[in-house]
Amino acid sequence: MKIESLLIHGGVDGDERTGAVNIPIYQTSTYKQPEFGVNKGYEYSRTGNPTREALEILIAELEGGIGGLAFASGMAATTAVLSLFKSGDTIIIPDNLYGGNFRVLDKVFSNFNIGYKIVNTTNIEEIVEVLENSKEKGDIKGIFIESPTNPLMDITDIELVSKIAKKYGVLTIVDNTFMTPYLQKPLELGVDIVVHSATKYLGGHSDLVAGLVAVKEKSLWDKLHFIQNSTGGVLAPFDAFLLIRGIKTLGVRMDRHEQNANEVVKYLKNNEYVEKIYYPGLEDSKGYEIQKKQARGFGGVLSFVLNERIDYKKFLGSLSIITFGESLGGVESLICHPASMTHGAIPYEIRQKVGIVDNLVRLSVGLENIEDLIKDIENALEESKK
Ligand SMILES: Cc1ncc(COP(=O)(O)O)c(C=O)c1O
Repeated sequence: MKIESLLIHGGVDGDERTGAVNIPIYQTSTYKQPEFGVNKGYEYSRTGNPTREALEILIAELEGGIGGLAFASGMAATTAVLSLFKSGDTIIIPDNLYGGNFRVLDKVFSNFNIGYKIVNTTNIEEIVEVLENSKEKGDIKGIFIESPTNPLMDITDIELVSKIAKKYGVLTIVDNTFMTPYLQKPLELGVDIVVHSATKYLGGHSDLVAGLVAVKEKSLWDKLHFIQNSTGGVLAPFDAFLLIRGIKTLGVRMDRHEQNANEVVKYLKNNEYVEKIYYPGLEDSKGYEIQKKQARGFGGVLSFVLNERIDYKKFLGSLSIITFGESLGGVESLICHPASMTHGAIPYEIRQKVGIVDNLVRLSVGLENIEDLIKDIENALEESKK
């Protein structure tokens, strides 16, 4: 099946017992064991639940993996994946990434002596240098990639990084939140583990918080399932159901998100108040050729820097259709201020160094009428002129 059909019929397609076209919500914590030592495949819902399992099979099929796992949030998914590492291990991370991904390493895993090394992952030589320099110590055990990065939309050559990582025996992890398997399949590019904040495009309606993982190797799935069951950050059956429902329309939504994003980029490109645009679909952007090679689209998120003629705080407060708030990937357009919101956990010096400046805004272009969206931006710019 092609991905458009898989989104609708993948995983567990309906309910065999009744013929219902949707998987039921198995709202149960436990399961009757008919006799000693016998069960029907389920014992306790932290360990396994049929609704969650349907979603887990679905994400595995969509990503081209052998198994999936569903968690209570993207951060719970990432936390489970990072729990694969041990005291003394170091993980390479990009120099701009979702603030929560940075924070969990910086403030939580550091307590367990799991370190991180910040690298510009778009620069392969830099990755190789770090791996070479650590060869003797042997502490680098993982590379965590976001491509595109949040919020600067940097593109990393996923296939090349995976190939290099393999040479050094290092595990590669890709946060595929911005692209989704509809546009990009990291496992097929050689990556070991894919994580998602399914809160975003996969859910698609800003009505749930969820995380997903997909892996290529059975041994990795076994380890992660053990961690999932041991630490317990599982997704509830109702949210699993909602997520399966959201995923069915992912393809058409992603197409329209990207179409609208392109129009917004075209408008911003010629705007006297915009200093810089970050969008991998811009032909003159650094990652354009790599993105074209490794993904089948550019997505619906872009970031832009307003120039000094605009009061950026006033701009954010002057929008009426575009919602000023955290998150992205919903049907509604969402705009945020990375420096104070999503990326507040990243130290000021690093933010400045990489370009997460105060007048940078990140826009997740929704599915509204494009003329309404552009008018909204135009009006807000007009109202926030200094
Ligand atoms: C790229 C990325 N990864 C992970 C997360 C964390 O996901 P969640 O908010 O579902 O825990 C986010 C949230 O914004 C994100 O943007």
